[in-house]
Amino acid sequence: MKIMICKDYDEVSKKAASIVIKEIKKNPDLKIGLATGSSPIGLYKNLIEAYQKNKISFKSVVSYNLDEYIGIDRSHPQSYYSFMYENLFKHIDMNDDNIHIPDNDIDRIDHLAEDYNQVLHDNQLDIQILGIGTNGHIGFNEPGTPLGNETFIVTLDEQTRMDNSRFFNSIDEVPKFAITMGIKNIMYSKKIVLIASGKEKAKVIHKMIKGKVTKNLPASILQLHPDCTVIIDEQAASKLK
Ligand code: F6R
Repeated sequence: MKIMICKDYDEVSKKAASIVIKEIKKNPDLKIGLATGSSPIGLYKNLIEAYQKNKISFKSVVSYNLDEYIGIDRSHPQSYYSFMYENLFKHIDMNDDNIHIPDNDIDRIDHLAEDYNQVLHDNQLDIQILGIGTNGHIGFNEPGTPLGNETFIVTLDEQTRMDNSRFFNSIDEVPKFAITMGIKNIMYSKKIVLIASGKEKAKVIHKMIKGKVTKNLPASILQLHPDCTVIIDEQAASKLK
């Protein structure tokens, strides 16, 4: 694991963006795994800026999102579909056909995981962007999830629903289920970049980097990935010393 400690969230976002920009310049057909949540918003802002300044094009970049809520429509403002269009896709020249966000159509619930998993089997990602939950989840792989899991439908942890309730009117509105890439899918990516900031992430970052690899802290598996970069601000790094 390569650890990069930055002054603040702004610097974290710029660092992460510089890695993604370099990868797109190297390979315009880049296959990139994307995350939602607050952590990558600054990264996405920097990518939009680079596009607007004609530094990069996303025309042949192909994206694969980590996860999506089940139980709300794609058109819901808090769906990850809406999040991605709002925070990135509508501002850049991505081809809609190159965007993959797990389908969350409840009528097809028995097929959703298998279908998305097939897409991931057919396409090894060049780079995967990750955030981390305060309970150590990546994607929606909650503590206790078998580390060999591939795409599956998950019942969300109460801690995760509580953490994410800040985006909804109340915790009752936070979906109870989601579809997520499994740890095995995430580990299959050639390169991984995890970003985290703020003191509320300090404890979990310490455990992820210094603790033992365990399914009780799914992000700890990243210690075993051959090319994983962790970009954190000083607050998130505060328990590492
Ligand atoms: C979102 C995702 C989650 C988040 C995590 C951290 O697609 O996969 O694992 O990365 O919950 O969320 P934030 O960045 O909001 O702290």
